[in-house]
Amino acid sequence: MHTIFHRTKLAQEMTRQLLQPGVLDEGLRSGLFISGLRRTGKTTFLQADLVPALEGAGALVIYVDLWSNTQTHPATLVRGAIRRTLAELQSPAGAVVQKLQKLRNAELAVAGFKFGFKVESVGAEGGATLAEALTEVVDQAKCDLVLIVDEVQQAITSEEGKQMLLALKAARDGINPRPGTPGHFIFVGTGSHRALVSELTARRNQAFAGATSIPYPVLDADYVRYLLERLRAEGAAALPSLEVATQAFRMLGARPEEMLRALRELRSLMPPGGDPDQFLPVIAGTLRSTAADVGLRNHFFTP
Ligand SMILES: Nc1ncnc2c1ncn2[C@@H]1O[C@H](COP(=O)(O)OP(=O)(O)OP(=O)(O)O)[C@@H](O)[C@H]1O
Ligand SMILES: [Mg+2]
Repeated sequence: MHTIFHRTKLAQEMTRQLLQPGVLDEGLRSGLFISGLRRTGKTTFLQADLVPALEGAGALVIYVDLWSNTQTHPATLVRGAIRRTLAELQSPAGAVVQKLQKLRNAELAVAGFKFGFKVESVGAEGGATLAEALTEVVDQAKCDLVLIVDEVQQAITSEEGKQMLLALKAARDGINPRPGTPGHFIFVGTGSHRALVSELTARRNQAFAGATSIPYPVLDADYVRYLLERLRAEGAAALPSLEVATQAFRMLGARPEEMLRALRELRSLMPPGGDPDQFLPVIAGTLRSTAADVGLRNHFFTP
């Protein structure tokens, strides 16, 4: 487990755009899709920074990672996460209700939420639709509800997944345009496959056509500074300058794991008295070309 460099400011800015959008950000209520390359810290940012920031601002957040279990169907994973939250909301001692109570000075019903449908069958045939269930959540919780789906492109690989996205779109369109709605339903999707993720908002036949699609803001010099400071605090000698280290980090695709590997190699390979600012770029260049090699091999030989 790496120690996390928190991106509180970025998370708060996104939270503001999502929960209290200005005129130009109102489009985010139609859905926000964030795409970024593999291993650049998307999931870490969502879990360590964005979810806490959204909750801190009073929203109810449901997070689901469609890669968390590749044996289980994406639609099942999303329904499961929603049902779990609904079940927790019914229990007054549940963590979700406690959190909401704390934020809202205990004005919520102490007895937990009462739903006019069976939680176990939400989204299934004969049960309440996702739209009906999520509308009740917003109306009883009287707050914004944010659903974050990590690796969202996985949903469009099957018909059932597409149906699920359509059901979520129906929830959005049922909840948000109501005058005086006590909260909004906000969908955030992230993924590593840029083309597929942007297809989700760009293609007319997709459920979330017209929603906003942005590139994931990669880690940069602030992260590298934090890393160098931690190494310095550990007593590491011969560290590269911030400038050279940041260039190396960018060369490595802004991937923390690759950067740590490069710094480990620097420590073990550089002769005493060597100049880290000269060695690090060479190491980063070699690592990058090895990675490119592996990438090509995977590209050509993946069945
Ligand atoms: N803010 C951060 N501070 C420190 N380390 C980080 C940070 N963000 C990511 N990392 C490290 O980088 C690696 C990749 O992070 P993460 O799994 O969040 O990326 P991802 O983009 O979601 O990857 P994937 O494409 O596999 O889903 C992990 O080892 C993680 O600990
Ligand atoms: Mg991830």
